[in-house]
Amino acid sequence: MLTPIRQDLITLLADGQFHSGAQLAQDLGVSRAAIHNHIESLEALGLDLFRVKGKGYRLARPLSLLDPETLGASARPAPLHLFWQLESTNGFLLERTRHCRNGEACLAELQTGGRGRRGRTWVSPVASHLYLSYFWRLEQGLSATGGLSLAVGVMLADALHSMGVDDLSLKWPNDLYLSGRKLAGVLVEISGQQGEACDLVIGCGINVAMPERVAAQIDQPWADLSEQLDGVDRNQLARAVLQSLDSGMALFEQEGLSPFVDRWKALDRFANQPVRLVLGKREERGIARGIDEQGHLLLALPDGSLKRFAGGELSLRPGD
Ligand code: ATP
Ligand code: BTN
Repeated sequence: MLTPIRQDLITLLADGQFHSGAQLAQDLGVSRAAIHNHIESLEALGLDLFRVKGKGYRLARPLSLLDPETLGASARPAPLHLFWQLESTNGFLLERTRHCRNGEACLAELQTGGRGRRGRTWVSPVASHLYLSYFWRLEQGLSATGGLSLAVGVMLADALHSMGVDDLSLKWPNDLYLSGRKLAGVLVEISGQQGEACDLVIGCGINVAMPERVAAQIDQPWADLSEQLDGVDRNQLARAVLQSLDSGMALFEQEGLSPFVDRWKALDRFANQPVRLVLGKREERGIARGIDEQGHLLLALPDGSLKRFAGGELSLRPGD
């Protein structure tokens, strides 16, 4: 639990300098033993901390904490909700879609139940990465949502390019890779009835600086931005992502996936490579041939035919 006192402790430690237990205790109005316990709780929430006798406590690296001013929250066209802790930023927006405006967004320092596709867990240590959800009401309804997660992948790649990140690629249908390892994931959750406008919650998780103590929880190769950028300002990153989503979603609403297809293909991680497409216990092998205008995956099968696959329950994996 990220109690107010632990939030204050993180804020004091965020500069990455040593802070003595005595000083922290005095600043926070608690005993040194209490500070020790709170430090252990922060470690359990995913922070890498050092303790050196005679010097005190220090974070492995400084943190840039989310800050409404640096985020430009008041200048945004729609509300921007900031939290220390949520179960899931997607969950927060999904519960209030009826009251949401286009571009309304939510960020949290910590997710206690960050989620990926199909109930998988998104590892979400405190103050280390970006956990952002974004609302959009699509007037054309469910039928117009095809390929949305691919378009969002391109929007995220644009935002990251604008910050100087390179060697990015996209994995169909919802992942962003850096140097061939998973950097970010997109989880689009949709509510709405056939024939009506539908509500979209677009969740983006982008790794900024992975603490060592949580890395082992991820069961596939991962990447973070600190590999390429020094001292990433998460507020600047969030601004770039929000701007890209603002313009990208307006374009997607008007023109659908089409304006994003060429850029998606240019970033296709598996283009012309052998892949396996896993559907539950079944799998299909072939050569990945990019996507069509609707965002379906194209797979060249061993018999020479070209087969199309829609998203949903499918997982793309490298072949042999
Ligand atoms: P697919 O969706 O194609 O099956 P996937 O295996 O990446 O791909 P997702 O549901 O998209 O599955 O993402 C969840 C998975 O991502 C988790 O099962 C875990 O392997 C990995 N993961 C969890 N947290 C992180 C993180 N912070 N950074 C990178 N990868 C993560
Ligand atoms: C995936 O790769 O399966 C998608 C991961 C999406 C993670 C983000 S973090 C912000 C938002 N809130 C969540 O619970 N999930 C998404």
